Amino acid sequence: MADLFSSFKLKDITLKNRIAVAPMCQYQATDGLTNEWHQVHYTSLARGGAGLVVVEATAVSPEGRITPKCLGLWNDEQAQGLAKIASAIKNAGAVAGIQIGHAGRKASAHIPWEGDDHIAHDDPQGWQPISPSATAFGANLSTIPTAMTIEDIERVQADFVTAAQRALAAGFEWLELHFAHGYLAQSFFSTYANQRTDEYGGNAEGRGRFLLETVAAVRAVWPQHLPLTARFGVIEFDHKDEEILCESIDLVKQFKQAGLDMLNVSICFSTPTANIPWSPAFLAPIAARVRQEVGFPVATSWGMDNPVHANSAIEDEQMDLVMIGKAFLANPHWPYQAAQTLKITRPSWVLPAPYAHWLERYSTVKAD
Ligand SMILES: Cc1cc2nc3c(=O)[nH]c(=O)nc-3n(C[C@H](O)[C@H](O)[C@H](O)COP(=O)(O)O)c2cc1C
Repeated sequence: MADLFSSFKLKDITLKNRIAVAPMCQYQATDGLTNEWHQVHYTSLARGGAGLVVVEATAVSPEGRITPKCLGLWNDEQAQGLAKIASAIKNAGAVAGIQIGHAGRKASAHIPWEGDDHIAHDDPQGWQPISPSATAFGANLSTIPTAMTIEDIERVQADFVTAAQRALAAGFEWLELHFAHGYLAQSFFSTYANQRTDEYGGNAEGRGRFLLETVAAVRAVWPQHLPLTARFGVIEFDHKDEEILCESIDLVKQFKQAGLDMLNVSICFSTPTANIPWSPAFLAPIAARVRQEVGFPVATSWGMDNPVHANSAIEDEQMDLVMIGKAFLANPHWPYQAAQTLKITRPSWVLPAPYAHWLERYSTVKAD
């Protein structure tokens, strides 16, 4: 039986354990470029012992950034900076992953600690967001986006492909498409955001077309031996939960046929009126359902940071990989702490020698 510290193989990539650092925007970039902040941040997370470190949502085009301080992957200079991060993650013993995405109607926002709301129209820092339809998210993100033309759709899909190629060239071995959280791809699938009457709207087939085509287009350039995953919101927590879940699972089955290897199961966040039942591990049963009905590996995050819950989720086969977010910000050595809690003594998690020598000597946790 697998547990949190068992290895996990997906395609030709083997993670040393089932712990992944969830993608987390740092809002520290200028012109989409990495800097010392990102270098130190990701290196320290990788040294902490996670099997996989997924670099934050990285925009496929300038207009696809959530904020002006988000990372990008639309030019070679950005790829060169990210290559140093991928290399540091690998040298620290983790697999280097990256999430690529487009923020759609949630783009052009202030960074969270400066308001999290849309930048004003007349502020030169911001830009005009695009979305499937000219419908605003609402609440603090009230800018009405421009409805995308077919040319816009083709351009953004091409941007995803080019960003995937740059991610590969930069040395990343695990690619996650950001199809969740009310950003562009999720907006195509959501009736809250998509009122199109052409082939990219209407029924689930039409609303799923942008996502499915993007999976296929990226798979065509992303090597078969490397994992291609997506983060996708399968539940809104509104009055239509079962309908959205069934439609989503059906689409994920098509992603699988188009070459997707795994799903990071998440929340739609397509409307500010959702009523999300925040509590520890609350999404685990939903992830388990997707895993069972689609028949391929899944991960999820959202309150999975209690080591006992995380371990049970793997042992009970609810999920294959646990994504941990904020707990890693509090403690990059969360895996070490989890191993201590669980009294795990296998060497499948390895701290770097300058830490391990002392910690193993003075703690109850020892490598076999
Ligand atoms: C600072 C911060 C930035 C985040 N940025 C992203 C992101 O870039 N992409 C993404 O899919 N989710 C993002 N999230 C969501 C996390 O990946 C994760 O799902 C969330 O924090 C819940 O997991 P946790 O309870 O372990 O923190 C972010 C969360 C935080 C706290």
